[in-house]
Amino acid sequence: MLFRVYSLSRAGRSTKERVARLVYTDEGRGEAVVFLHAFPLDGRMWAAQARELSPSRRVIVPDFAGFGGSTNVAPRTSLDEHADDVAALLDALEIERATIAGLSMGGYVALAFARRHAKRIAGLVLADTKATPDTPEGRAARDQNIALVRNEGVAPLVERLLSKLLSPSSPAEVVAFVRGTGISQTPEAVVAALAAMRDRPDSTPLLASLDVPAAVIVGEDDAITPPADARAMTAALPRAELVVLPRAGHLANLEAPQAFNAALGRVFAPAR
Ligand code: MLT
Repeated sequence: MLFRVYSLSRAGRSTKERVARLVYTDEGRGEAVVFLHAFPLDGRMWAAQARELSPSRRVIVPDFAGFGGSTNVAPRTSLDEHADDVAALLDALEIERATIAGLSMGGYVALAFARRHAKRIAGLVLADTKATPDTPEGRAARDQNIALVRNEGVAPLVERLLSKLLSPSSPAEVVAFVRGTGISQTPEAVVAALAAMRDRPDSTPLLASLDVPAAVIVGEDDAITPPADARAMTAALPRAELVVLPRAGHLANLEAPQAFNAALGRVFAPAR
């Protein structure tokens, strides 16, 4: 069973303050996998993957600073800071290397982690994400969304995003989960994350150096980071396998959990 715990940091470490209030789940034993959540959600989105993998692996699912249960930590305005939070969490858990799995914004953070902490990556899962930065139009849309949240709160943004996050055939309970989880986030965290995503660098040049087993997974109907982005990343990564999930949109792990889990299982050798 999943449970939320407060992280334990070792006295005297410079990372102590950073992790002290980050909330995460930590379940199972064995090789570590860290799942990084999408925007504007939190670690709850990975429940089906944690259930599937935790009998054979150690599955760690943080809520990014400002999101989910981590609202006591100041929201981060850069993805690098979220990546450093993940590194600090691994320090606190005394885990040297882990598979880093991120979906969408979680994928952007995974790439930031790879840029800043490459030696700590045992494997990579990049799901419904992309290595390229925002286009000028995309940056302008972020600014509009920031203004919307500042003026009207998080709920109108979530309503605006729903049709892009999910495919039209998404089950009602998935829509309700995404809506409910999205509107539970604070405006401060949402605004900070929009700015962080707007300002992220191009990670394309990094990909060739990431010589670890990698899975690139994408819903075939992903309207935000479509399969073409996934193909480009797969081609640039030295050891990546691409899995396109039929009848799934951007939040592919929620819309097609079994196929998503099967993709995870195919790409990574059984845990020892
Ligand atoms: C996400 O799902 O994390 C976001 O939609 C990503 C983005 O807006 O670029």
